Amino acid sequence: MQKYIFILGRDPELSRKELFAYCESRNLKYEVLDTSDIALILSMNNVNAEKMIEDLGGIQKIALIVDSFDNLYTGTKNKVRYAMSQYGEEEDIKNELKAYFKKEGIKATIKKSHHQEQDYLTPSEAQNVVEIIQYKGNVAKSLAVFNPKHHKFRDTKRPAQRPLHTISIRLAKILINLSGAKPGDTVLDPFCGIGTVAQEAMVMGMDVIGSDNDKFCIEASKKNLEFIKAHYNCHSSYRLIETDARQLTRFISRVDCVATEPYLGPFIKDYPSEQKARGVARNLLPLYQETIQTLRKITKKNIVFITPRFRTTARKEVPVNIAPLLEKNHIPFEGPFLYSSPTSKMLREIWIIKQK
Ligand SMILES: C[S@@+](CC[C@H](N)C(=O)[O-])C[C@H]1O[C@@H](n2cnc3c(N)ncnc32)[C@H](O)[C@@H]1O
Repeated sequence: MQKYIFILGRDPELSRKELFAYCESRNLKYEVLDTSDIALILSMNNVNAEKMIEDLGGIQKIALIVDSFDNLYTGTKNKVRYAMSQYGEEEDIKNELKAYFKKEGIKATIKKSHHQEQDYLTPSEAQNVVEIIQYKGNVAKSLAVFNPKHHKFRDTKRPAQRPLHTISIRLAKILINLSGAKPGDTVLDPFCGIGTVAQEAMVMGMDVIGSDNDKFCIEASKKNLEFIKAHYNCHSSYRLIETDARQLTRFISRVDCVATEPYLGPFIKDYPSEQKARGVARNLLPLYQETIQTLRKITKKNIVFITPRFRTTARKEVPVNIAPLLEKNHIPFEGPFLYSSPTSKMLREIWIIKQK
């Protein structure tokens, strides 16, 4: 067993949940050694860090804790560009490290963050350097760092676009992982839009079903999923259905998991009044209730479902609370977990509705 540091993203609670769900669905055994809002330290066997960082939406970096400087740089060149990232108050080991590199005959140059106020590199800055992470008295070697360019390619180069109504790739991955899906499973998104959840599930090796009541969305998803097939060498299959989510039992008898952001009400340009937000929330509730009832008939594992939490002009927050309807029907669930987008006028809450 080795010890790994997982640096968490913007919503730490969600990132932790996602990582645990990912490990459990793939039967990766782990022991939690430490947890905070910055990072998780896990004891695990043979982590495929590159793969994990690609699959997980909420993890920024994965680093291996080392007990000697000898394990920090294992390359063969006698030149290295390295960086120190300190998460919290850590001992200054710069001089020790310099002396070590000198002793080993390695010409080492240091890279610093452009963000003067922070002691660690951002994921973009930490590409292509040997990054040494210090956290809670541990020294670790960064094994994989989230690369925003990989998301940007899929996001901006796919043929069908609909920016205002589309979730981020990061959020799509979080939903898929929370659903308990593993490669080979079938994932359904009953409000698929232009297919973001479906495309990410395909990249992760799952078969997908996308449905939407809008013909444009079905055609857009088809174009995007063909693009994914062409660029990511995926062998997964997809099926697209034009239907109201509440009618899905007419078309599907079984899926493994559901991951979805449903219709969240009319598009909001400005903050609504509290009264308006309450009205929208009230109107959405029956759609969510009927859809969840339908999905429960066909889903084997988890149904991961987003609801909006409106911010109002008076800076109040108005949620769409589905807890009473789940409780009334004795449906087990976890959440809601808050997903905050820095740019959005609306917050999102994520519910994990359990089937077993
Ligand atoms: C928030 S968007 C989903 C965005 C999607 N996750 C993406 O990234 O493209 C909601 C979608 O629900 C669809 N929709 C609205 N009401 C529906 C219903 N009753 N049944 C099925 N789809 C519906 C809309 O056409 C829209 O594409």
